[in-house]
Amino acid sequence: MYSKILSIGSYVPKNILTNQDLEKIVETSDEWITERSGIKERRIASKNETSSVLGYYSSLKALERANLKPSDIDLVICATNTPDMQFPATGCLVASLLNIKVPCFDLEAGCPGVIYALEVARALIEAGLYRNILVVTSETLSRYMDWSDRTTCVLFGDGASSFILTRSDEPGIISSYLMGDGNLGELLKFPAGGSRQPASIITVKNREHGVKMQGREVFRYAVGYMADACIKSLDKANLTPDDIDWLVPHQANIRIIDATAEKLNIPKEKVYVNIQRYGNTSVASIGIALDEMIESNLLKKGQNVLIVSFGAGFTWGAMVFRYI
Ligand code: UT7
Repeated sequence: MYSKILSIGSYVPKNILTNQDLEKIVETSDEWITERSGIKERRIASKNETSSVLGYYSSLKALERANLKPSDIDLVICATNTPDMQFPATGCLVASLLNIKVPCFDLEAGCPGVIYALEVARALIEAGLYRNILVVTSETLSRYMDWSDRTTCVLFGDGASSFILTRSDEPGIISSYLMGDGNLGELLKFPAGGSRQPASIITVKNREHGVKMQGREVFRYAVGYMADACIKSLDKANLTPDDIDWLVPHQANIRIIDATAEKLNIPKEKVYVNIQRYGNTSVASIGIALDEMIESNLLKKGQNVLIVSFGAGFTWGAMVFRYI
């Protein structure tokens, strides 16, 4: 039995924060942010828009596009690094908003959580255990930022995307490659609020409740590992970069995207980029991009797509699928 991505939907908050707005918050400039990252603006969730709410909206869109009802879903997997609460799982909260009682859980694997979650869903479908799996990817990173740290707060944004995976007679998801190296975890982390450093007046005072990143180091690893994951995934699929219609990379930095495409010898016209409008939305970025590509008729049935991501863990991975 094969699996395929039947549908994709996304949702981003209405509220826009531009680079010019950020100039009023931290010592930065539109020029620096644009040149170093490619970002011009990002979306910021309103008070009531939690990760589960964003994921609920993107799921409604994915369901509508698939012509399915919430009751057609038999498992919910939510990939997020910014859950509504420590527990219950955000996936359970999305299921509750959809008014369905199904198995539901969260998967936390940094930005590549989307590819990890798609891989889990694919395996469960191909094993014959489930029919329609909803993979929700949702982030409210603006709630997890230290808004006094200019090295991180200018990079991230909020958003969600949802995928519906189902059984197929022909291969939709063709191959994947996942990898991780926990030894590099210190380079990108959210230090406090867990069992290592429970929330206290001291952790708040020391600003430990915010994303900490050694950007230059992360950058270096990202370029090498993203290209490597693409090559390994293509090899498994018996395909070459020439067989790929679209490279849809995680949108963390335009320079990482360009360097990855260059290493693979994939021309710019085949690389989808929307980082200028949303910044880094972590797990949600690839699905937001794919949804936009469907909306604008860029992604067409029968095309081969290569998705790739890298992030906290470190984790990285790529997947090749045919959009059928
Ligand atoms: O999604 C998870 C994966 N995350 C990533 O892939 C992010 C990877 N890293 C990056 O994208 C880049 O490293 C950054 C965009 C974060 C930074 O770009 P960079 O070219 O590596 O800059 P840098 O960190 O080496 O900083 C260069 C200079 C520094 O000043 P000095 O030490 O040269 O005087 C920084 O203090 O830029 C300064 N700087 C800023 N200046 C204005 C850092 N942040 C800012 C800022 N505005 N927001």
